[in-house]
Amino acid sequence: MKSSKTTLSLTVNGSPVTDEVEPRLLLSDFLRHQLGLTGTHVGCEQGVCGACTVLIDGEPARSCLTFACQAEDTAVETVEGLASEGGLNVLQRSFQENHGLQCGFCTPGFLMAATALLNRNDDPSDDEIREELSGNICRCTGYENIVRSVRAAAEQIREPRRTQAR
Ligand code: FES
Ligand code: FES
Repeated sequence: MKSSKTTLSLTVNGSPVTDEVEPRLLLSDFLRHQLGLTGTHVGCEQGVCGACTVLIDGEPARSCLTFACQAEDTAVETVEGLASEGGLNVLQRSFQENHGLQCGFCTPGFLMAATALLNRNDDPSDDEIREELSGNICRCTGYENIVRSVRAAAEQIREPRRTQAR
């Protein structure tokens, strides 16, 4: 029987990837099962919880509602791409220091949604943080510490820029 697979080419966390995929394969399953990037979590599988959030060309997207083949020629970023040289980045450290996570299941989705926010606005108000993260569900933290974590990360991102401007 002729294979129904198609060739998918994209970049994932800055590295070029080419692989064969079934047309109906979800991006979340492609990342987790074909690339082994299991940091992208799958909760509701129907676009409600935000756990599967990744960035596609810089914009947050539900990978459980996206076919892998829709990511052709895009740049996909997952939570694995945040840390560099084996160390957590500013946002990840801030979640750790401000108790922005408990069970951690929701955390990759929050980190990616917050990354998109901080990439375009390094001085968000609490309302803007809450608005940006309103598509992500956490059942452990009550959100206060998540908002605090994003706010603290924004302050740390701004500080070196201020110093450079002096
Ligand atoms: S698993 Fe995708 S939104 Fe819940
Ligand atoms: S830390 Fe457990 S669901 Fe958010």
